[in-house]
Amino acid sequence: MSGAFAGLRRVQDAQVEGQVVAVRVDYNVPMADGQIGDDTRIQASLPTLRLLRERGAKVVVFSHLGRPEGKVVPELSLRPIADLLGELLEAPIILHTEHEEDVRPHIDEAADEAIHVLENVRFHPEETANESPFARWLSSLGDLFVNDAFATLHRAHASTVGVADHLPAYAGLLVQKELEALSPLVEEPKRPYVAVIGGKKAKSKLGPLRDLIRTVDEILVGGGVAYTLLEALGVHVGTSPVEHALLDEVEEVLANAGERGVTVLLPSDVVTAEAPEAASEAEIFAVDEIPPERSGFNIGPETVARFAERIAGAGSVLWTGPMGMYEDPAFASGTRGLAEAMAATDAYTVVGGGETGDAVSSFGLAESMSHISTGGGASLALLRGRRLPALEALRES
Ligand code: 3PG
Repeated sequence: MSGAFAGLRRVQDAQVEGQVVAVRVDYNVPMADGQIGDDTRIQASLPTLRLLRERGAKVVVFSHLGRPEGKVVPELSLRPIADLLGELLEAPIILHTEHEEDVRPHIDEAADEAIHVLENVRFHPEETANESPFARWLSSLGDLFVNDAFATLHRAHASTVGVADHLPAYAGLLVQKELEALSPLVEEPKRPYVAVIGGKKAKSKLGPLRDLIRTVDEILVGGGVAYTLLEALGVHVGTSPVEHALLDEVEEVLANAGERGVTVLLPSDVVTAEAPEAASEAEIFAVDEIPPERSGFNIGPETVARFAERIAGAGSVLWTGPMGMYEDPAFASGTRGLAEAMAATDAYTVVGGGETGDAVSSFGLAESMSHISTGGGASLALLRGRRLPALEALRES
């Protein structure tokens, strides 16, 4: 059995008939004005929930939504998500808004076909602190625990790690599917292995860059991250976002890449404007000719062509973070071009979740990727070689 699956207890091997199964899912979905922006994560949880119900289990589901920091934030209620879940599974839903002693008796008394959803676990400060009385209370709601929240496996919280101390704990089908799809990049990536790193902030990508240098052959950098790297190389980038406090660290990471023979390619041209609202005046400039009052908003055509060539020749590609603003068509061409290159290559292509997956889907190219992960932070943590605490909690000890 491959490393990711070693000792992993799997939901399909659990005896669940007549049991109450507590299922941790990740319903941290984009919300706007009480509406669900993207239901991918909800859809992705259905196979496990259906399997459990078909096998005669009662199901109680818990999840977080957003970062309410231990307080009740009405906009972050799971109510709309619970309603959609009821429609998708054609089942009555009971949303438990109070986390009290009488929840388990209520579950036991309710009809078997009802699905119980616990209100946002992060309304409680004990959740992220992984405090054991809260974990014990959560575990009292089920006879078994299934974790199918792939996107939260990198968090050691009460509902991900704490519960597993008190109940027999199994990996859900989504967790297994993600591990299956990501394992080729962890264990034996087809080479050349190319990582495409974008996104807004250099700060959040420097750690991954540092780790990925040990496993990949080439790194292509775009998005907001690239401007700090360009500045560290002495290229002034107008008003593009530069995180000056990181410049020394960036130099060190680039030097490290050089020592290991890992090529780091940066943008050579970018789509610029004075402000995101001035999209109608968007103009392409070479990175060393960006006027002082302009900012880069996406990679330019020359960069897309350079990056596309590397992607075409790759054996595996990991892409995390858009190449710039992709929501506004005036700026989207760079991110779109990158997605098209990913769609056209024969390489094994993995897209990190969140915005990158959203960008690929918005261009209608989702089906052309080998895998789009449901978890941005979790997949990146796994691929950079980090231990996922909530995954480790599901292995035979
Ligand atoms: C995610 O969206 O990456 C997961 O739901 C984890 O959310 P968090 O970063 O707030 O822990």
